[in-house]
Amino acid sequence: MNLTAASSMTSQPDIGTLRSQFPALQTEVHGKEVAYLDNAATAQKPLAVLERMEQYYRRENANVHRGVHTMSQVATDAYEGARSRMASFLGASDPREIIFTRGTTEAINLVANTFGLGFSSGDEILISEMEHHSNIVPWQLLSERTGARLRVVPVTDEGELDLEEFRMMLSKRTKLVALVHVSNSLGTINPVRRIIADAHSMGVPVLLDGAQAVPHAKVDVKELDVDFYSLSSHKMFGPTGVGLLYGKTEHLEAMPPWQGGGDMIEQVDFAGTTFNEIPHKFEAGTPHIAGVIGMGAAADYMEDIGWEVIASREQDLLTYGTERLAAIDGLRIVGTAPQKAAVISFLLGNAHPYDVGTVLDRLGIAVRTGHHCTQPLMKRYGIPGTVRASFAFYNTREEIDRLAAGLERAASMLS
Ligand SMILES: Cc1ncc(COP(=O)(O)O)c(C=O)c1O
Repeated sequence: MNLTAASSMTSQPDIGTLRSQFPALQTEVHGKEVAYLDNAATAQKPLAVLERMEQYYRRENANVHRGVHTMSQVATDAYEGARSRMASFLGASDPREIIFTRGTTEAINLVANTFGLGFSSGDEILISEMEHHSNIVPWQLLSERTGARLRVVPVTDEGELDLEEFRMMLSKRTKLVALVHVSNSLGTINPVRRIIADAHSMGVPVLLDGAQAVPHAKVDVKELDVDFYSLSSHKMFGPTGVGLLYGKTEHLEAMPPWQGGGDMIEQVDFAGTTFNEIPHKFEAGTPHIAGVIGMGAAADYMEDIGWEVIASREQDLLTYGTERLAAIDGLRIVGTAPQKAAVISFLLGNAHPYDVGTVLDRLGIAVRTGHHCTQPLMKRYGIPGTVRASFAFYNTREEIDRLAAGLERAASMLS
């Protein structure tokens, strides 16, 4: 696929051509072409992903790792090829460090239910006030089981992590730092390089929730030296129901399996069972084969567009969107950190976010409203939730103009 036929990869692609790759962007909502500004919830899927998955189901459908027959081998090659693809996408040197999961949530639960089993009373797990529920609740459940204590790094009024507090909370008792790389509610890009260096200087491993980071910028787990990294395919233009956990080999090899079943075993005997090697030790049962292959195609698609194009388009949308929205009377942006991904959370006067979202929907504009699965963060700011516009590289300034006009209308209707 060549989106930049008339130009080099670093120059801007033709936006019409680019948008035509995403059939769902042509959907009409209440008689208008949708302005899809809910990319942090889930991103739209390009034809390259849809067609690759269809090809698997139409022509290659067979189970993996199980058959000598040709179709099974083709499917296995595609599945394991996607593992290598995702390893290179994340800068991991060894594909065995990539465990396929149902998404970020399952990846974090995997670590909690394996690595975390070594924690005990007196140990501490450090998270932050801006975590998604999927990086809070697994640790709470683990705390109940092991007696380990959950400690929470505060965020500032602007939506940045309080790094001084973080350093003070880090101690010999800390067994894991588990933090969001990019906040889904605020857009804040956390200074993870420094955080990892600080944690490692105390011998503490770090897990990053990368669900909102990988759609926006190149992540290199080796360069970051992060211990665990999780992502969801559906937020990076791939299918739903699939994602992955990256883990350093030394951790993965030391961790016990968590789900039992086919594929994760070496030998099963009623007297006892031995387990497969990594990564298969953590992948019990028939996996989401089409999903994994589709995720690999999404990684290809993103790199085909190029990180520079993605970053420059999104930065433009963020800057333009922030200016346009900040100029609306009574609109307050929640999350004003200097380093942000293309996410704008806001409140419109005293209007409830749900009402604002409903008015926008009638105008064909899709935004997210509510607590965004970050209830403790909303509590921190003393608000019930926000309206959130989140952009992808295929969004346009015209869509932001529609959003701004829709908000003016909502303001006049709801005040
Ligand atoms: C920051 C963050 N972490 C975790 C998740 C959970 O992802 P999933 O539901 O795909 O497992 C999300 C989804 O919104 C998210 O934004």
